[in-house]
Amino acid sequence: MYTVTKLEDYSPAALDMAVRELLSALDSESKGVNNKSDWKNFRDRWMARKNGILTQINDLWLKAAPAAAKREVGQRVNELKTCVTDIVETRRAIVESGLSKDAIARVTGVEARIEVGQIVAETRGRRLELDQLDITLPSIRRPIGAEHPVIKALNEIVSVFKAMGYSVSEGPEIETDYYNFEALNFPPNHPARDTQDTLFIAGQQSKPLRDRLLLRTHTSPVQIRTMEKLAPPIRVVIPGKVHRNDAPDASHSPMFHQVEGLAVDTNITFCDLKGTLDHAMKALFGSSVRTRFQPSFFPFTEPSAEVAISCIFCGGKGCRTCKQSGWIELLGCGMVDPNVFEFVRANGYDPAKVSGFAFGMGADRIALLKYGVDDIQLFFQGDVRFLEQFA
Ligand code: PHE
Repeated sequence: MYTVTKLEDYSPAALDMAVRELLSALDSESKGVNNKSDWKNFRDRWMARKNGILTQINDLWLKAAPAAAKREVGQRVNELKTCVTDIVETRRAIVESGLSKDAIARVTGVEARIEVGQIVAETRGRRLELDQLDITLPSIRRPIGAEHPVIKALNEIVSVFKAMGYSVSEGPEIETDYYNFEALNFPPNHPARDTQDTLFIAGQQSKPLRDRLLLRTHTSPVQIRTMEKLAPPIRVVIPGKVHRNDAPDASHSPMFHQVEGLAVDTNITFCDLKGTLDHAMKALFGSSVRTRFQPSFFPFTEPSAEVAISCIFCGGKGCRTCKQSGWIELLGCGMVDPNVFEFVRANGYDPAKVSGFAFGMGADRIALLKYGVDDIQLFFQGDVRFLEQFA
């Protein structure tokens, strides 16, 4: 049975020893407390005014300490008081709750904390909060993360194409000039580059232009990367993040997301492109949606088109969202330009033998429309109150 003895030595190491000895006694004795009467004895042994262990250490350790050690000893005695009080109170809670020790431990993890090492560590810095234990409180809530609305839209778009037999490919967000521009038929200094200004990685003037790095402005470079790896026929969709020099507003962000598509085979026509995208838009927005193809220009497709869907809010009559036009522009597409195949000809893409179509759609715009959000900035501000609505 533990008894308090006088301290011979007041060095910090000796004090540590004495404290540890006391705590280990406290620990093992507290574990033997199983009912109310055990607990009363336990409390009295440790806390009785007259001759309880706390009183004893006050007399034998603190009062007896030489002036030089008083501060140090006082601090430890105080820590021990807190600790003893906490353990005694915790035991009371356990005994009074009528629950088994194991059950309490499961609810509160308290048993684990009544480990001597733990107590020594905790009494060093902060007060144990065991006496605040209320086992009727709900358990600690660990909120489950939610899929971000843009990722949700990306996944939905991808799954529409997967169902048509497409596979998924990805590429780097930091891209070379070659893949982002040159191999997509944007020659150096061509004005078409101006429509896709971006951030260029600094300090690369010594490299040839084609090797210089930039943040990709579209997912189209992955068309080339995919054709370099896979011979035709191919059907791929490519989701990803892209960057452009666009001032942020309700419908623009300097960082946004696209889903690219590419199909190459021996006999792909513009009809295949129209049918594929018309089906995809109906799958995404509902079967009553119509699509409209208007001539457009992209260096890497010829002919090219801009695709709009009939306004999903007014059905095409004209409203604020579609600016009274009845149509919402959603993506760019076209037949792969033979000049693009020239860059991957060696991999089986002879422009005289294969043809293909490509398209690129803004996933953030699609998310805005699908989920009825009116400001793209909300997607990137990280406000949990906004994001958890999509959980
Ligand atoms: N990459 C084009 C853009 O970002 C979209 C596009 C992709 C157009 C594929 C045609 C074919 O604007």
